[in-house]
Amino acid sequence: MTSWNFDEVPSQLGRTAIVTGANSGIGFAAARMLARKGASVVLACRDPQKGANALHGIRAENPIGAVTLEALDLADFDSVAAFVQHFAANHDRVDLLINNAGVMIPPLGRTRQDHELQFGTNHLGHFALTARLLPLLEATPAARIVVVSSSAQNIGRIDFDDLDWRRRPYRPWLAYGQSKLANMLFALELQRRLTASGSALKVTASHPGWTSTDLVRTAGFLSFLGPLLGMTPDEGALTTLRAATDPTAEGGSYWGPAGITGMSGPPDRAQACSAARDEAVAARLFDESERLTGVSFAFRGVTATPRAPPRACTDSARPPSRSAS
Ligand SMILES: NC(=O)c1ccc[n+]([C@@H]2O[C@H](COP(=O)([O-])OP(=O)(O)OC[C@H]3O[C@@H](n4cnc5c(N)ncnc54)[C@H](OP(=O)(O)O)[C@@H]3O)[C@@H](O)[C@H]2O)c1
Repeated sequence: MTSWNFDEVPSQLGRTAIVTGANSGIGFAAARMLARKGASVVLACRDPQKGANALHGIRAENPIGAVTLEALDLADFDSVAAFVQHFAANHDRVDLLINNAGVMIPPLGRTRQDHELQFGTNHLGHFALTARLLPLLEATPAARIVVVSSSAQNIGRIDFDDLDWRRRPYRPWLAYGQSKLANMLFALELQRRLTASGSALKVTASHPGWTSTDLVRTAGFLSFLGPLLGMTPDEGALTTLRAATDPTAEGGSYWGPAGITGMSGPPDRAQACSAARDEAVAARLFDESERLTGVSFAFRGVTATPRAPPRACTDSARPPSRSAS
C-alpha cells in the first residue's frame, strides 16, 4: 500500500490556491497544509465569523505562505460572481482551485436561485466558480483544478427531468449522491473539453473516504460514529492534497484512501464509478449546467456562445493587464 503523506507535498512557494469551504473539516486541513508548504491560500468561506476563526487559526501557526479570507456563498450565483470579480482584481494567477465545500443530507432546501441545496451548492456553485475563474487558471502555468467528490457518487443518478427535486419526493441521500456524481462527471468532462481545446490545465478529483467532520451534522448515527471510525481531517485532506500537488497525477485522475474499503488509509488512485464515466451523460450535464448557471466556459481558442440569462463570465475573470508570472 502507498505511504504517501504530507512530507511528499512539493514546495508550493509562489503558488496561489483557492480552497472553498476552508473554515472547517477537510478544507481547513488542506488550506493549512498548503500554507505550511508556502502557498498563498485564499480561504473562500460563506460565514464571516467561521472564516475569521479559520484565518486566525492558520495564521497562528506562522505558516510560510500568506493566508487571506474572501466571502463566497456557493448557494448564490451572485456571490460567486462577486468573489471572482474581487479575486481577479487582486490576483494575476491561480495555481490551484480546490472545489471542496459541500453540504450533505440537509432537509430540503433551496439556493438563492431556487436550485435544490445539495445540487446547487455542491455542483452548480462550483461549476459557475470554475467557469468564471477559467481565464485566470488558463493564464497560470501548471494550474490545476481539484473537484472533491465522494464515494456517494455510487448511489447517484442524474435525473435530467428533475435535477432540483421538484417532481419526486426529496430523498436526502439520493440528492447528495446526485450532487457528488455530478462533481465527478464535471471533473472528467471538463478535462475532456480542456484537452480538446488544446489547454494544458489539469482537472483531478478526490474523495476523502470517511473523515470525521461537521459534514454529518444532520446524519444522526454517523455523527456519533465518525470520531470513533473516521479519519481525522488532516488524514482525510491528504487525498485532496495529492490530487492537487502530486506531479504524477494526470488530468482526469481520481484519488481516494487506499484502505480495503476505500474509507480510510493514505491517498492513492481511485476508480470513478461507471455512471461517472458515461460521456454522454457528462456532456449533457455540462451543457445543462451552463444553462442553469447562465455561465459559459470560454475555452482558449473557442468563442463562448452567450446564453440566457447573460452573465459575462469572461470579463469578470479576465486576468488583469499585468502578465501572469
Ligand atoms: N467527511 C467525509 O467523510 C466526506 C466523505 C466524502 C466526501 N466528502 C466531501 O468533502 C468535502 C468537505 O466536507 P467536510 O467533510 O470537510 O465537511 P465540513 O467540515 O462540513 O466542511 C464543509 C465546508 O463547506 C462549506 N459550505 C457549505 N455550504 C457552503 C456554501 N453555500 N458556500 C460556501 N461554503 C459552503 C461549509 O461552511 P459552513 O461551516 O459555513 O457550513 C464548510 O466550510 C465536501 O465536498 C464533502 O462532500 C466528505
